[in-house]
Amino acid sequence: MAKAVTMSLGFEARTKASRAYAERARKSLPGGVTANVKYFDPYPISMKRARGARLWDLDGNEYIDYCLSFGPLILGHGHPRVMKAIRGSMASAGTTMFGTPHELEATYAERLLRIFRPDGKLRFTVSGTEATVHAVRAARAYRRRPMIAKFEGHYHGGVDEFLVSHAPSKAEADRELRPVAGSRGTPAHVLENTLVLPFNDLAETEARIRRHADRLACVIMEPVERSYIAPDPEFLKGVRETTARNDIPLIFDEVMSGFRLAFGGAQHAYGVTPDLTCLGKIIGGGLPCGAFLGRSDILELADPRSNDFFHSSTFAGYPPAMAAGMATLDELEAPGTFDGLLAKTRNLTAGFERILEQQHVRARVPRVGTVFSILFLDGGIRNYRDTLRDDPQKRRALDVALLERGIFVKPAKPFYLSTVHDDAVIRETIEVMDDALQAP
Ligand SMILES: Cc1ncc(COP(=O)(O)O)c(C=O)c1O
Repeated sequence: MAKAVTMSLGFEARTKASRAYAERARKSLPGGVTANVKYFDPYPISMKRARGARLWDLDGNEYIDYCLSFGPLILGHGHPRVMKAIRGSMASAGTTMFGTPHELEATYAERLLRIFRPDGKLRFTVSGTEATVHAVRAARAYRRRPMIAKFEGHYHGGVDEFLVSHAPSKAEADRELRPVAGSRGTPAHVLENTLVLPFNDLAETEARIRRHADRLACVIMEPVERSYIAPDPEFLKGVRETTARNDIPLIFDEVMSGFRLAFGGAQHAYGVTPDLTCLGKIIGGGLPCGAFLGRSDILELADPRSNDFFHSSTFAGYPPAMAAGMATLDELEAPGTFDGLLAKTRNLTAGFERILEQQHVRARVPRVGTVFSILFLDGGIRNYRDTLRDDPQKRRALDVALLERGIFVKPAKPFYLSTVHDDAVIRETIEVMDDALQAP
């Protein structure tokens, strides 16, 4: 059993307001949170203010933020250009939304299609989960078949069929690869209609797809597993070829990798074009927004005039989110910006690796683009099963030690960087890491 997580008495004394809030919130919100991912032991630190790369908690403690709301805030908190776009959108519209088509929708769709699929079509959603849900539904409508194939360890949102095998335990993963429910109450038909695949194992993936080709509606995957485990280039190409050969739509869930791995996404970095792409996080510039896009013949099924496939959502195409998203892309697209961010991420991970080596700590810092993690294990990390060799107690101890020293990373989760994490911030973080690793 995992040991209870404790914070130092000094830190507990400094975070009394977060603790009191957690106790109050538990009375109305299960676990005191409104999304499971925001919880950690012994109580999550609650924030009340943010600017640039920094967060301040309810007690006024300051942190450098490496969570960035789980990825979206690639320009940091409250970026002036994004804030101006949000205010401008509301001021010129005189409202928050119209409930009708409006010009930003096509403008933003055209821009995203130019980047991802110039001959394709797109629909907006309000979240990454909605994007993946509807992309899979569109593929089912196209193929008229029930089964989806997904990869072990890949997350596509909090719905039953995407939670299948997204984080099986060590004991479950020690058994043969098969669908494992990720949440109580998962209907049997969901498990029966999910094929689980092994990331970076092309021969087995191809064999499984071939065996079930007649029943499959689509293959959905994170092209970069968990946003920090790189695919073998031949692996993505192989999955693309097998799915194309069987006319099975391949869906890249780029909710995380889109605009984090490269300007564009994994499909640009690895030169593999899926049939459908799901976006979220960064494309809303810090406001809720997602999108699914791709082949016109599949997306066209959603044309209301044909009545083939229903897709709708009250808040889809939310004007301030479109404005914030476009402002974010404007900033990211400026010459040197993305390269600068990649260089800073490389510097930070190199600094961490140097310290781990100096302190003789057995750990790896896998990085892809502007995201990385720290795992306490030896050897390579090529898929979810490899991550299970991690020593979670060590990572937990490091997370607490970092938190106590003013580095906010959601325990056990990856680190995300932003353009406002400057060289001074990176240096400060490396010094803190050095100290945190020596903590008892
Ligand atoms: C790869 C991936 N897909 C889908 C989602 C779901 O997005 P959202 O939380 O916006 O619904 C996430 C969220 O972390 C994700 O990382």
